[in-house]
Amino acid sequence: MQSVLMAFAALALVVSTPATPASARTVDFRPGAAGIGDPAYPLDGNGGYDVLHYHLDVRYQPATDWLDGKATITATATQHLSRFNLDFIGLTVEEVTVNGQPARVRRDGDELVVTPARGLLKGLPFVVVARYHGIPETFRVPEIPLESRFIHTDDGALVAGEPESAATWYPVNDHPQDKATYSVNVTVPDGLTALSNGIPLGSTSSAGWTTWRWAATSPMASYLSTLAIGRWRIDQHRHDGRPTVIAVDETLPPTLADDAVERTDEITDFLESLFGPYPFEANGAIVDNHDPLLFALETQTRPVYPASFFDDGPNPLDDNLVAHELAHQWFGDSVSVRYWKDLWLNEGFAAYAEWLWSEHNGFMSVREWFNMLYDTELGGGLWTPPPYDPTGGTDPFRISVYSRGPMTLHALRLTVGDDAFWTIMRRWVVEHRYGNAETEDFVALAERVSGRQLDGLFAAWLTGSVKPPNPDPLPPGA
Ligand code: ARG
Ligand code: ZN
Repeated sequence: MQSVLMAFAALALVVSTPATPASARTVDFRPGAAGIGDPAYPLDGNGGYDVLHYHLDVRYQPATDWLDGKATITATATQHLSRFNLDFIGLTVEEVTVNGQPARVRRDGDELVVTPARGLLKGLPFVVVARYHGIPETFRVPEIPLESRFIHTDDGALVAGEPESAATWYPVNDHPQDKATYSVNVTVPDGLTALSNGIPLGSTSSAGWTTWRWAATSPMASYLSTLAIGRWRIDQHRHDGRPTVIAVDETLPPTLADDAVERTDEITDFLESLFGPYPFEANGAIVDNHDPLLFALETQTRPVYPASFFDDGPNPLDDNLVAHELAHQWFGDSVSVRYWKDLWLNEGFAAYAEWLWSEHNGFMSVREWFNMLYDTELGGGLWTPPPYDPTGGTDPFRISVYSRGPMTLHALRLTVGDDAFWTIMRRWVVEHRYGNAETEDFVALAERVSGRQLDGLFAAWLTGSVKPPNPDPLPPGA
């Protein structure tokens, strides 16, 4: 995003330079890298450019699972580019143009390699238009009914997946380091509703199809973009001036999930009182009644929730899940990881927000959550392997990320005191708003605010495999 100003400065320079134009022969155009440089996922994202905006026009027919798409991608070259990659899974590409000229495109696994007719100069914006079609691929973990990315549901489709999902429905620079704004037009058969991120811009119908328009106006990491097609019970209103769209699968009996997601405004207000202003232009929820959906995801401005989580009767953990996904809007969505090794900066913070909500709500206190985990050790999974850098195996969402993550924050709070702790948390979201950050940045901020050396504390709670002494035991008999 940032390089847009630089791009215009460069443009002004080019335009105002008289005569002797830079000869193409003197410019050293080189291919952009096939990955953005995250050691955990070497092919996620791409090098050499920075996307500013995705404009997506997609049409989906649930009866045949067929998707037709056109992606218009505005980007800035961050090096002189002879060619560049886009991440793209499964679908068939018909045609790609760059700045209006047909480009050569070749497929290399889950990458598209695009060679424009002319090299792209560093600092200048360019526009890619890609047309494509096909049946989008669902990702399944072997032996487990865990579906993610593009999920085909009874009444439509749902896109949710971390760390990847976007490349199953549009060509993308698929890594949180390259955030962009979005406008999305989704065309579905009349009678179905298509939801996405950000501000609802209404719908129009013609010849049996309805087009739903959405705009995500704050920078967004690609895995946080969603598409949810189906029949929904929709509550659309404004809260604090923000359009809020809460959608629950129409096949669910009212009240089960509705009760939890209808607390979205109240929980958002509570989180604002802790972490500062809600970072985005819109808010809401999407609850899909699709059995194999086994996780929730903090899709920006409109988290996705699995209906199955809510179906066992009233339970305070139901709104804890809502608090978790809404807290991710600050931690994960606005402040995103630079590398996936730092996943605890998302999950640990969202889990700590759950504890805070639970305490505020008169359910378990933060101290009780901490001690429950400390004492049960979750059957051993708590101490080995540690939460820091959970990538490299199959599932980075290991239990210690969600448990020792918030325990690390609690240990920090006990060490530096409440005043310093809340200053650290609020400064974190201000300093890295819409950006990317690493554990090292958080440790440095905590040390700066508290005036203490904290590397030992973070080593014990975040990277060590030995149980540290309990800094906050419950009083005897509690
Ligand atoms: N970030 C999601 C959450 O809020 C977790 C997604 C889990 N995905 C997975 N493939 N296990 O908890
Ligand atoms: Zn989470």
